[in-house]
Amino acid sequence: MDKFIITGGVPLKGEIAVEGAKNVALKILVASLLTDEEIVIRNVPLIRDVTLMLEVLGALGVNYRRDGHTIHVTHNYIHNAKVPLDVAARLRTSSLVLGPLLSRYGVATTPNPGGCRLGARPIDRHISALKDMGADIQYHSDDGYFYAKTKELHGATIRFPKNTHTGTETLLLAAVLARGQTVLENAAEEVEIDDLIACLNQMGAKIRRSAPRTIVIEGVTKLHGTEYSIMPDRNEEVTFAIAGVITHGDVIVKNSSRRNLGAFLDAYRKAGGKVEEMDTTTTRYYADGPLTSTDIATSPHPGFMTDWQAPWAVLMTQAHGLSTIHETVFESRFSYVSQLLKMGAHIEFFDPKVASPEAFYNFNWADRVDGDHQGVKIKGPTPLHNAVLEINDLRAGATLVLAALSAPGESVVHGVEQVDRGYEKIEERLAALGAHIQRITEE
Ligand code: EPU
Repeated sequence: MDKFIITGGVPLKGEIAVEGAKNVALKILVASLLTDEEIVIRNVPLIRDVTLMLEVLGALGVNYRRDGHTIHVTHNYIHNAKVPLDVAARLRTSSLVLGPLLSRYGVATTPNPGGCRLGARPIDRHISALKDMGADIQYHSDDGYFYAKTKELHGATIRFPKNTHTGTETLLLAAVLARGQTVLENAAEEVEIDDLIACLNQMGAKIRRSAPRTIVIEGVTKLHGTEYSIMPDRNEEVTFAIAGVITHGDVIVKNSSRRNLGAFLDAYRKAGGKVEEMDTTTTRYYADGPLTSTDIATSPHPGFMTDWQAPWAVLMTQAHGLSTIHETVFESRFSYVSQLLKMGAHIEFFDPKVASPEAFYNFNWADRVDGDHQGVKIKGPTPLHNAVLEINDLRAGATLVLAALSAPGESVVHGVEQVDRGYEKIEERLAALGAHIQRITEE
C-alpha cells in the first residue's frame, strides 16, 4: 500500500513524454495467444495492468520476456484454458482471452472481470455476440466464472445494441481465426481499437472498417508473429495538459497525438487553455489568462472521452462561472467528487433531463443503483486546499493527484496502486516538471 505526499501550489514546467497506450498494450498482449510465433511489442508502458495481464497469460502457459518497454511474447501450447480468479478480479481486460481461447482451443473458462468499479460493467454484449458465433457460454454464479466452449467459431453478422470498446475488441480477437466472414455493426470507433486492428493485420488477419461503425473480418486459418510499436496514451496527454494549466505552469508534451484529442482540445481551447503545436508530436499546454467555465458531455469516440471527465472537473474548479459535466458512458464515474469537496471545491450532483434514458445512455439503464448520478455542476474559480484523499479508481486517482498539485500545502493521497495501474512512475515524471511529490510505501 503506497501513498503520495504532495506539496502543491508549485507551477509545473518543462517537458514530459507520453508512454504507450495502456488500452492498446493489454489487447495486443492477448493477441499473442492467436499465434505460435513470437510477438514483439514495443512502447509498452511499465504499469500494473500490464503486469497483471502478463500474470493472466502466464497462467495460461504463455512465455514472455521484458526488456524495458519491449515485451517478447511466445505461446506454443495452452496447458490450461482457465484464467485464475485472483488476477482476473483485478483486471478488466482478462475476459478478452475468451476469443483466442475459443477459436484455437474450443474452450475457455474465465471469471467475470474486475477492474475499476465505474458501475456494474457487465459483459453481456460480448457474451451474446460470441454466442452468435457458435460459442456455448454458461455463467455460474456460485463461482463467478464463465464456462465457454465451441466445436468451431463461425462468422456472423453481429449488431451491438450499444457501443462497447472492449466488446468490439473481444469480437475482433474471436473472429480473426473463425471460419468465414464476420461483420460487426455498431462497432466502437475508439482509436485504440484501430491500433489493435493494425497489429492483427500485420499478423496476417483480414480486418477492415467498411463504413462508419462497421468492421468486416475475413477469418483466416493461421496468424504469424510480428513486431509492433503501440500508439501513445492519449489519456496521459490529457492528464499532463491539465497539470500544466491548473498549476499555472507550462508543460511541453512529447509523443503527443493531437489528432486523437479533438474533442478535448475543442473544450480546452473554449475554456481558455492555450495549445502550441511545436511539431507533429510535440505540444505545449499553458494558459495566459483566466479560464472560462465550459460544459462537456462524455460520449464514445469521437466525442469527449469518459476517461477525461474527472481531470476536466479539476480544471473547471479553476474556471470562472458554472460548468456542467454530463457522464453518459458509465453510470457511476464521479467517485472523485467527494474527495474534491474535501478540498473546498463547489460541486453538486444533478440528473440531466433526457427524453429516453434507456436508449440515450451507453450503460444499461437498469444497472443504475441509488446514489448514481449522471451530472455534476461545478462553480469556480475556487482555490483548492490540501487534504487527505482516498483514490477509488484509476482516472479518479490521476485527478486527485492533479488537484493536490494545484492546492497549496501538503496533501496525502492514499490508494496509489490505482494510479500505478495506468500511469508509469507518475511521481518521478511529475517531479521532473518540478512537482513536490513523494511516494511512501506503507507496511
Ligand atoms: N457495457 C454493458 N455491457 C457490455 C459492455 C459494456 O453494459 O457488454 C456498458 C459498460 O458498463 C459501460 C458502457 O457500456 O457503461 C461502455 O462500456 P465499454 O465496453 O465501451 O467500455 P470498456 O470496454 O469497459 C473501455 C476502456 C475504458 C474506457 C471505455 C470507453 C479498456 C480496458 N477500458 O472500457 O478505460 O473508459 O472503454 O472508451 O479499454 C481506463 O482506462 O481507465 C478505462 C476505464
